[in-house]
Amino acid sequence: MGLSPIWRLRTPVAASPPPMVAAEPPAVDPLHAARAEHALPASDDTPGVADAGRAARIADMDWRELQVSVAACRACQLCSERRQAVLGVGDVHADWLFVGEGPGAEEDARGEPFVGPAGKLLDAMLAAIDLRRGDDVYIANAVKCRPPRNRTPEAGEMAACAPYLQRQIALIQPRLIVLLGRAAAHALLGEIGSLGSLRGRSLSYSPPAGSTRPIPLVVTYHPAYLLRTLPDKAKAWEDLCRARALMRSLA
Ligand code: URA
Repeated sequence: MGLSPIWRLRTPVAASPPPMVAAEPPAVDPLHAARAEHALPASDDTPGVADAGRAARIADMDWRELQVSVAACRACQLCSERRQAVLGVGDVHADWLFVGEGPGAEEDARGEPFVGPAGKLLDAMLAAIDLRRGDDVYIANAVKCRPPRNRTPEAGEMAACAPYLQRQIALIQPRLIVLLGRAAAHALLGEIGSLGSLRGRSLSYSPPAGSTRPIPLVVTYHPAYLLRTLPDKAKAWEDLCRARALMRSLA
């Protein structure tokens, strides 16, 4: 294993948009969710309300309804400072689902996940295992609204957003989920340990309704962390190789 690819940013961060992402998608394009202007009834998403009825309604939504609901969501305090909610991007029938933490400043401005510096590195990580965003890959976050100053989302905020991520998983039905960082792992697995203790383990996500089979999970480092901690890129490469081998074994 010490043979890791060099995940350099191939272009300056402020350069051209990432591949596979249209600048101005049509309003109903599920690949670019959360741009809709319509609001759901305010009672559906009042701050602090995390009722089973809301989760059940979200569990019934199609992509269009999810897009509208997320754009109007007021279920936690993150709504107050967002420019726009960021539902996700990619192939809605993807085998691969990558889940990050939450939108940063550039994602909040552009309405797409992982378009800032961490996103450039994620694209390079995908390329290292012959993947490309939008092509058999969907990218989402644990929370759909930017936490102020890019802080880690709180447990309550992730819980409020969980029905959306769960519905995305149910609609996509990926064969493998890669969790990027501790917050994403926390969102789908609960508080079950440090990132280091989750890496390399055989884990799976069981949908709440039990409607589909458990989906294998791989936990690895968040690209933003890797940008700050270069030595751990080799470990992330190990995780990606493991994910690729796992996916091949599922074929
Ligand atoms: N970090 C994340 O976790 N998600 C994004 O979309 C961008 C940065």
